[in-house]
Amino acid sequence: MSDDVKVETPAEEAPPVDPNAVQVYVNGVPHTARKGQLVIEAAADAGEYIPRFCYHERMTSVGKCRMCLVECDSGRGPAVTVSCMATVMPDMKIDTQSDTTKRMQEGVLELLLANHPLDCPVCDKGGECPLQDQAFSHGPGESRFVEEKRHYEKPIPISDLVFLDRERCILCDRCTRFADEVAGDPLIHFNSRGNNTHITTFPDEPFASYFSGNTVQICPVGALTAKPYRFKARPWDLEQEESTCTTCSVGCRTVVQSSRDELLRSMGVDSDPVNHGWLCDRGRFNFEAVKSDQRVLQPMVREGDTLQPAAWNT
Ligand code: SF4
Ligand code: SF4
Ligand code: FES
Repeated sequence: MSDDVKVETPAEEAPPVDPNAVQVYVNGVPHTARKGQLVIEAAADAGEYIPRFCYHERMTSVGKCRMCLVECDSGRGPAVTVSCMATVMPDMKIDTQSDTTKRMQEGVLELLLANHPLDCPVCDKGGECPLQDQAFSHGPGESRFVEEKRHYEKPIPISDLVFLDRERCILCDRCTRFADEVAGDPLIHFNSRGNNTHITTFPDEPFASYFSGNTVQICPVGALTAKPYRFKARPWDLEQEESTCTTCSVGCRTVVQSSRDELLRSMGVDSDPVNHGWLCDRGRFNFEAVKSDQRVLQPMVREGDTLQPAAWNT
């Protein structure tokens, strides 16, 4: 009889299977995505940035601009896919670098630039413009279009604070979507058809939304500009500090930007529990009060109908 004592080693427990995990391959590298996740988001999580204009993570995807086209193979061969509209599938192969993907991205940019005025040197968005950046990183480098571009009056005020340059608009639907589904003020819309499609307000009704400044921040080109910042600075001249808006108790995350010791702009910062990147116009534009002529700089005492300067200890 053997003295050997057999000790039963428990079988190593397999990790629980996550029912929401979806295995995909991004440029050949395995990646675990989430069920229902958009291809553009799964690729970003895997470290691959897919260029985009209309996609915004805080709004419904609409697949308007086609800049995010990539090749995806879900088992039936590679297919051109709008990555901000398609969700991941098990074992999907996502190719953001293929020759076809690159050719499509170049084609989309060439088309978007067919009517775009290329006035970057005098455009407020220059230096922080997704169209400028992506034309450089993903564009064809030159255009085959020789036709005259369309022209509109430049720019028109659509409210007291926001100006619209229709020549620069790439019809991405971000501003209109924001006004409708985030602000609840559907006061700007697309008008007309085809080559004449443009953003407009209702006749004699300005874009009077308390949240209009957000459209300027999310416009991926210089089509929407904010009056207080127009031609005041270039992005590379700006210094900035992240801060909290003090105008009301919501306390939105904001970044305050200045140049040559002058406050010039506030931008919303995406804070999940607070403001998702949005600011109301009061919080966004009230920095102008800092150097307002009407700012009270010292104690004033009313004498009859007028206010007279007084000392603090009066
Ligand atoms: S104005 Fe800007 S945000 Fe609005 S549709 Fe045109 S490009 Fe998009
Ligand atoms: S941005 Fe507007 S809503 Fe947000 S904290 Fe400032 S005042 Fe309040
Ligand atoms: S980012 Fe996908 S279609 Fe515009």
